[in-house]
Amino acid sequence: MEKEMGLRIIGTGHAAPKKVVTNDDLSKLVDTSDEWIRERTGIERRHFAEEETNLDMAYAASADALLHAGIQKEDISLCIVATFSPDMQVPSQACLLQQRLGLNRDIPCFDINAACSGFLYGLQIAHALLTQSGGQYALVVGSEIISHRLNMEDRGTCILFGDGAGAAVVKLEEGYPFYGMMGADGDDKILICGQEDSENPYVQMDGQAVFKFAVSIIPKCINDVLEHTGLTAEDIDYFVCHQANRRIIEYVAKKMKQPLDKFYMNLQEYGNTSAASIPIVLSEMDDKGMFTPGKKAICVGFGAGFTWGAALLQW
Ligand code: UT7
Repeated sequence: MEKEMGLRIIGTGHAAPKKVVTNDDLSKLVDTSDEWIRERTGIERRHFAEEETNLDMAYAASADALLHAGIQKEDISLCIVATFSPDMQVPSQACLLQQRLGLNRDIPCFDINAACSGFLYGLQIAHALLTQSGGQYALVVGSEIISHRLNMEDRGTCILFGDGAGAAVVKLEEGYPFYGMMGADGDDKILICGQEDSENPYVQMDGQAVFKFAVSIIPKCINDVLEHTGLTAEDIDYFVCHQANRRIIEYVAKKMKQPLDKFYMNLQEYGNTSAASIPIVLSEMDDKGMFTPGKKAICVGFGAGFTWGAALLQW
């Protein structure tokens, strides 16, 4: 019988724009305060792109991930960029990245848009395509410039988001359990029309509805992964959740009866960077040496669509 091939992250990287925007900076633009934002979201600052493009950040994060993976760029046989904020409609960010990194010319490169769940969709697509093609390594990136799509007069949204990119080099490998799940339900409670000439091209969101959705779907996703893998929450070293709101993550920790220190958070530094949020967390944890051999993490994302996705990873 053929052995099941899992997916292992072998290198990570992340990048963020130079410009830091504090809560106090935002309180000069809209009727808000550092105290309100910290208390209601946990966010302290975020990075907004001025000169950087989505591609600049995706490139910096990917180059870092390749370096950490210790493989040659020619070894990559698939490149996926998760984003809802590409620099242009075509070519895709992934093709632009392929060119800038100098990846092989005959490999599939494409973008996916599953909003904040994009990186987790990307991992599962990478697993499926590598399995099908016999390729060994893929580059999966989440990269967003959300600040250009924010209405800086809407205090309900402009305080939440930030820009950044995270990347992972993944390897199809025997002996590393990988289980992923994903879904969507066709809701439009987070909406970004994006067309410059439309009445409202900016992020529109029913914050409370999204909050309620998040606190119900995240535990469901975690429990689904546990059920399918026969593991218990105690077997899991880290729960890597989409970085949207500290209160959402605290609620999930309580619901799962797990200590909060298993839930790494960096939303205080970046805000919500959508598809980039989970790979940025993974890269920071990696830099801190938290992924020693055998460590297990369940990553969970949720976002516009509504979409959701989760994956069990082992190092
Ligand atoms: O990737 C997924 C993306 N989105 C999310 O995950 C968002 C999930 N939702 C949330 O994080 C929270 O719902 C928010 C942070 C967006 C809002 O927090 P909340 O505790 O749900 O606040 P609320 O919407 O219930 O508003 C409470 C009050 C309102 O004032 P009144 O009506 O009670 O007088 C708001 O107008 O807070 C007011 N408010 C603010 N006040 C100061 C809303 N935004 C702000 C603000 N500063 N930035």
